[in-house]
Amino acid sequence: MTAQNSSAEADVNSIGIKSRERVRDLAEVYTDKREVDAMLELIPSMFRDVDSRFLEPACGHGNFLVAILTRKLVLINKAEHGGTPHWYEYAVLRAVASIYAIDISEENVLEARERLQAIIDKEFAEKGYEPTQRFHSALAAMLSANIVRGDTLNDAQSIQFIDWAISDSEKFIRTRCYLEDPAFDLFFSPPEPLPPIHYSELTPETQR
Ligand SMILES: C[S@@+](CC[C@H](N)C(=O)[O-])C[C@H]1O[C@@H](n2cnc3c(N)ncnc32)[C@H](O)[C@@H]1O
Repeated sequence: MTAQNSSAEADVNSIGIKSRERVRDLAEVYTDKREVDAMLELIPSMFRDVDSRFLEPACGHGNFLVAILTRKLVLINKAEHGGTPHWYEYAVLRAVASIYAIDISEENVLEARERLQAIIDKEFAEKGYEPTQRFHSALAAMLSANIVRGDTLNDAQSIQFIDWAISDSEKFIRTRCYLEDPAFDLFFSPPEPLPPIHYSELTPETQR
């Protein structure tokens, strides 16, 4: 069983559906790995930089996200050592920080996060690296900030993300942002960036 074909996929049948009811209610038909890969092959320039940004507006349980992250990890594995003890952890977090996704189904959102987490766990295990507890915390914070439940079609203005700008010394500069700015609200002022924070200080609580 590969990371792409993890337990989260166990409920999906060979034509990419979980149930007829979900097809009816959510238009939920997952894209097969072969098609996902073929589409991503069309945009090679997006996989030259670990910070390339992706947004999946209806991510399902994460078939595109899994493939995108896998490609970014290949890129990191080819990179030179970053020169600091935890450069690999920071690089993996940068890869995740630039992957955003929305789905209307909470179940899908949770599965998508779990699948990305599983890929990263597997990657560390294969390398024989023991990730720090702080890395786990930062990863949980990032996955919950970047893969969110929302109605992309009818309520995009209430979907909030965090813009993670990279900074020196393994830090991130976070700015809250909306999928669509409430531009017609006269009292709207865009959020200010928060002070740089080292990834080891990120927890799901620091995101609130
Ligand atoms: C056709 S599936 C595609 C899933 C994934 N993008 C893939 O290719 O495997 C459509 C997904 O859109 C989600 N969805 C349906 N309406 C939505 C909406 N208004 N906002 C966000 N997600 C929605 C469903 O829950 C479902 O997971």
